[in-house]
Parts: sequence; C-alpha cells; structure tokens
Amino acid sequence: MPPVNLHDWRELARRRLPAPIWHYLAGGAGDERTLARNEAAFAEYELWPRPLVDISTVSLQTRVLGAELSMPLFLAPTGMSRLFHHGRELAVARAAAAAGTMYSLSTVATTSIEDVAQCATGPKLFQIYVFKDRGLTRELVARCRDAGYTALALTVDTPIGGLRERDVRTGMTIPPSLSAKSIASFFAHPRWSLHYLFDRDFELKNVAHRAQKLAGRPVPLVAYISSQFDRSLTWKDAEWLAQEWGGPLAIKGVLHPDDVKNAAAAGASAVMLSNHGGRQLDGAPAPIDCVAAARDAVGDAVELIVDGGVRRGQDVLKALALGADACSIGRPYLYGLAGGGEAGVTAVLARFRAEMALDLALLGCADVARLGREFVRIVRPAGRNP
Ligand code: FNR
Ligand code: LAC
Repeated sequence: MPPVNLHDWRELARRRLPAPIWHYLAGGAGDERTLARNEAAFAEYELWPRPLVDISTVSLQTRVLGAELSMPLFLAPTGMSRLFHHGRELAVARAAAAAGTMYSLSTVATTSIEDVAQCATGPKLFQIYVFKDRGLTRELVARCRDAGYTALALTVDTPIGGLRERDVRTGMTIPPSLSAKSIASFFAHPRWSLHYLFDRDFELKNVAHRAQKLAGRPVPLVAYISSQFDRSLTWKDAEWLAQEWGGPLAIKGVLHPDDVKNAAAAGASAVMLSNHGGRQLDGAPAPIDCVAAARDAVGDAVELIVDGGVRRGQDVLKALALGADACSIGRPYLYGLAGGGEAGVTAVLARFRAEMALDLALLGCADVARLGREFVRIVRPAGRNP
C-alpha cells in the first residue's frame, strides 16, 4: 500500500536506510527531550473553528523572505542529501519548485550552489555556516548573488556539534563508511548500498575546495563541525552579513524574544524560530511555544518562520494563528526523499498542502493571511510557563 500520511513515509524511509543514516536523520541530541517536545507541543494548541464563513475558495498564498510561495510552508536547509537518496539536493529542489515553494540549500550540501540554481527554477535560500576561513563566507555570498538566490539564512545554533549519541552508537561518519558497527546494516540495505557503491561521489561541494577535504578519511560529523566552524561568531558578524548580502536575510536558530529583537537590530528581515530539530541543545524549548512571545516582542519588524516538529498541515495553521508568517520542515521531506526520491518529496509536500487547505476550510478561514489568535486555544498542563 502506498504511503497515505507522513507516518507511512517515515516508516518507508526507516526501512530503506542503513542504520547509521537513519539514526542520523531521525535522531536528536542528548536524551532527545527537545526532539520529542517539538512535536508534542503542538498538541497543546487547539484550533478553534469559526464556521458559517464562505470558504468556497481558500488561499494558501504567502510571501516571505522576498519570495512568493504557493503555501506557507517551505523546505528547511538540511545537509548532505546524498546520504538519503542518490537524487541528492537536486531531487528536493526540483520538487520544491514544482510545488511553488522555496528550497533551502545547506552550506554542507552534496550539490553546489550553481548546480541547484541551474536545475531548480523556484525561489531559493542558501543557509550559511561560518567556517574558520572567513573568506569562504564572503565567497559563498558572492556565489549566491551571482546564481540568483532569493535569500540567505545564517544558522546560529551550531557553533559546535550537539551531543548526537545515536551517531556514536552506529558509527556514523561522513562520508559513510563500513565499520565493525555498521557493516551488517549496509548489507541489509542492498538498494541503498549498491547505489552508493556505484556513485561514490560524496563531497561537501560548496566548501570542499577551502575546508578540510573529506575524501578518503571518514570522520564523525560532529568532529567535522567542531573542527571547521567558527565559534567566535557574534551579533556583529550577523550585522556584517546583512550588509554584505543586502537582500532578505534570516537568522536561523534563535528562540528568546530578546534575540528576535537583536536579529531585527542586526538588519535581518526574518527569524527562523528553531532549535535545529532538537539536534543541538537538548532542553531548549519547542519553537511553537516561542512564537507568541516573539511576535509580541518584535511587532511587524521581522517575519517569523517556525521549524521543528511540523508534521501535519494543521501544525502550520497553529503557528500562523500564533503569529508566524510561515513554517518550514526538515525531516518530513527527507522521509519523502529517502522513501521515493523526487516523487516522494512531491508527495509529502502535496500532503501538507491538502491538509492545510482542508483544515483552513474546516476552521472557517478562507485565507491564511487572516489567521490570528482568535483561531487558537491554548491547552496547557498546569505548571508550564507560557
Ligand atoms: C538539519 N538541520 C540543518 N539546519 C541548518 O541550518 N543547516 C544544516 O545543514 C542542517 N542539516 C540538517 C540535517 C538533518 C538530517 C536534519 C534533520 C536537520 C535543521 C533543519 O534546518 C531544521 O531546523 C529542522 O530539521 C526542523 O525540524 P524537523 O522539521 O526536522 O522536525
Ligand atoms: C545537522 C547539521 C548538518 O544537523 O546541521 O546534522
């Protein structure tokens, strides 16, 4: 039976991927409290329907980061898509363009800025990790400008790698490698392993020419991050990037309302409220719980984008009702990619769109632009802070 919902896509992805790859994708940091909380927190908000409104047409049209989107949902940056499917970043970028939404390319992608720009016609965001070699950042910004990227996002929650214990257990490395721990799992997934055997081109295409080469020496991802990323980054650097780029810029990975203000002051046009999908600081709050305070703190000064735990169309509606402009997803589209390549990503995006349109109609709201706090009710267990 073909996948009906995201749970099915997740299960298909789990079956298709060797254990080190699956756990890298699905896992989080530490005890995975934040990972679990990201999804669970959505259950504490109810959608409050206001019927007897003409919903013969509903609109999902949204504008964020200078891009016109067919729905208030786009694809968050995720590194190294080659791990999940031989279609790589290109498969995802094509599916995003076909769905009329924005693709985000990670600094640690396995496809170049230029190759993505050539084959994906939709709006494109490039996510910046600042390496110790600061000249690299300047180069990436120039390349994005030349290749016609719409927006940049500076990720600020990953100055060092999080505590990824699943990766330690499975022996996950980049590039993927056979080890005593992982060999059985690669043999048990011949479809993935054969593709990998015949297409061994695994490189962080945008940074390999200036940073440590990967080829021939598999390292744990966290070790790579910790050796290459610049830990001395501050708000001054965010300000510098906003000026250097001059276009729409998001600061990705803040949660505190004062940092949302700091982002606005630094010249960012958007904030991505995010805890990196629970992969960095375990114990950080769920982004959905930070939306209302962020909006109250900053008014209309910046756009708010929420990622982390968005698994249904209705999660997006809740975020918008609380004050967000759009949401983005990471794992959900990677489940589609691992389970079915480009067609899998397309199917996952179509599910989200259909769910959003359906629930918007049932909510009695004909246009996502009209979602506000009157559509959401907070059901919070006693003892939890707002
Ligand atoms: C990520 N994320 C991420 N973020 C980023 O800024 N740069 C990156 O390279 C990556 N890489 C990455 C890889 C994988 C496998 C995952 C799952 C996530 C974080 C991502 O952009 C986003 O914040 C989360 O994925 C959102 O949470 P959900 O949708 O996965 O719950
Ligand atoms: C991760 C890095 C790539 O979350 O951002 O795995």
